[in-house]
Amino acid sequence: MVATTLLAFYGMGTAALATSVVKLRKRLELSQAKHKSLAGHSRLSRRIAALVPYYDYGEDRFFSSDGAPPEVADRRRQALARLSTLYKARFAETTARTAEARAGISDLQFTDAYRVPFQYRRLVQDALPAAGFAQSSDGVTVTDLDGNRCYDLSGSYGVNLLGYDFYKGAIERGAARVRELGPALGPYHPLIVENATLLKRISGLDEVSFHMSGTEAVMQAVRLARYHTGRSHLVRFCGAYHGWWGDVQPGIGNPVPAHETYTLTDMAEATLRVLRTRRNVACVLVNPLQALHPNASAPSDSSLVDSSRCAHFDKDAYAEWLKRLRQVCTEKNIVLIFDEVFVGFRLAKGGAQDYFGVRADLVTYGKTLGGGLPIGVICGRRDLMKRFRDERPADICFARGTFNAHPYVMAAMNEFLRHLQTPQADALYRDLDRIWNDRAQRLNRSLAAAALPVEVANLSSIFTVCYTRPSRYNWMLQYYLRAEGLALSWIGTGRLIFSLNYSDEDFVAVAERFVAAAKAMQQDGWWWPGPALTDKAIRRTIMKEMIVHRLHFLGRRRSHQPS
Ligand SMILES: Cc1ncc(COP(=O)(O)O)c(C=O)c1O
Repeated sequence: MVATTLLAFYGMGTAALATSVVKLRKRLELSQAKHKSLAGHSRLSRRIAALVPYYDYGEDRFFSSDGAPPEVADRRRQALARLSTLYKARFAETTARTAEARAGISDLQFTDAYRVPFQYRRLVQDALPAAGFAQSSDGVTVTDLDGNRCYDLSGSYGVNLLGYDFYKGAIERGAARVRELGPALGPYHPLIVENATLLKRISGLDEVSFHMSGTEAVMQAVRLARYHTGRSHLVRFCGAYHGWWGDVQPGIGNPVPAHETYTLTDMAEATLRVLRTRRNVACVLVNPLQALHPNASAPSDSSLVDSSRCAHFDKDAYAEWLKRLRQVCTEKNIVLIFDEVFVGFRLAKGGAQDYFGVRADLVTYGKTLGGGLPIGVICGRRDLMKRFRDERPADICFARGTFNAHPYVMAAMNEFLRHLQTPQADALYRDLDRIWNDRAQRLNRSLAAAALPVEVANLSSIFTVCYTRPSRYNWMLQYYLRAEGLALSWIGTGRLIFSLNYSDEDFVAVAERFVAAAKAMQQDGWWWPGPALTDKAIRRTIMKEMIVHRLHFLGRRRSHQPS
């Protein structure tokens, strides 16, 4: 009896130990699959973000934060004053209107605050005020309220694929076709049928659902994956943007933790190991834009504190990675979702699936697909798109939206999709990569010939600017570019998005202005090559500053507490 009991205890102990070992191993595998950067550790990054104190550089430190000698700091001071005079004259009306509107439009306050590293913000906002208004667009240009016509490198967040004139036409022609139904919602306008047919053909998938934004499409895609697999977790890759919904934004920016999200390393064996061994993974979200900078967040100038931003696109390596991911997802019944909200229709007519030669189970599209109007779409396998169960009528996967399939949006989309079927569109996609790779290389050759510490990397018509020499002032380039008539989005040189109606002549003009801007910045001393300046040293200095300011803040708080 005693022996039997002992044996039972021994057995239970061994089983518990085995379970713990398995759990521990899985935990370890998960840790190994996290990217070593802060972006790979959502919880930690949020905690650390909460500790970062605000402080700014006064006049002196602003111009010599990299240890530049007084004559260089002076050159910079004079350059900023000159640039400021130019901005205040040239963009007078646009900046005045922006300043007026600022207090009542929270988004304007946000984008305005995040254009440069915060230490420099106050002086930059004073000297180079934001100009958040435009009055017209035409060809590859946008014109501000002062009549300044600039080459548009913002691409309207990626929406502008075919040129603004195309979307103006699509919206007008589309509106005319649905005018009789007007904004009546609920029943569909018949042209939705052609949209669904074309989208199924383009995506190679069985069904389509319409939403109002890319964020909503991603939310529903993940919800469907969870519903059909009965599993809880989504996997996203470090740095990848999938909209602003909490589960896909587990780090900085989201006030609460996302408990059912794993953020894993892109293009890593350790990630595949986790996918093979975890049984709670419902889906893997892939934003193919990350191919340009795997594991790095959207490159914004507000975080451009040094020159460590790097990017390089290797199509074969990324395609190979997607194939391996596809294989593991198939083996483990994990839903593979391509989030093509950004790159859809930009890389190839059939999107990233065609471009990389890998099929997904669900694909989300948005941006340009709306023909210039707001949109989010999911295309997917029939079994995954179903929102109810025949055998369990109360078990549904709810997703509705007042404005889903709005007749005006469907009509503009129809214009876009029909255009894609034309020989003109075929011609546009022919040689697309070669054209944009050549253009990027030409620009790089000009930059190198002028010995400028700048180069671009590109994924087809999406460019990012990298800096080849350690510097604390790279973010200044966005202001020099604007002075040369190049309009960027609020993330600055992090992303330049070209519409495909850029001719060679247009691009040559942009390249000349780009080089001129960089030359002016070089002459003004912002890229002073300090002998001891390294990216590591810059980061170390910033870290020290933050610690000092944090301690100072804590000290002040303590001295204000009642004793
Ligand atoms: C890949 C990707 N997914 C989703 C979204 C969110 O789309 P929206 O801004 O329409 O909500 C974006 C937006 O930039 C995106 O780039």
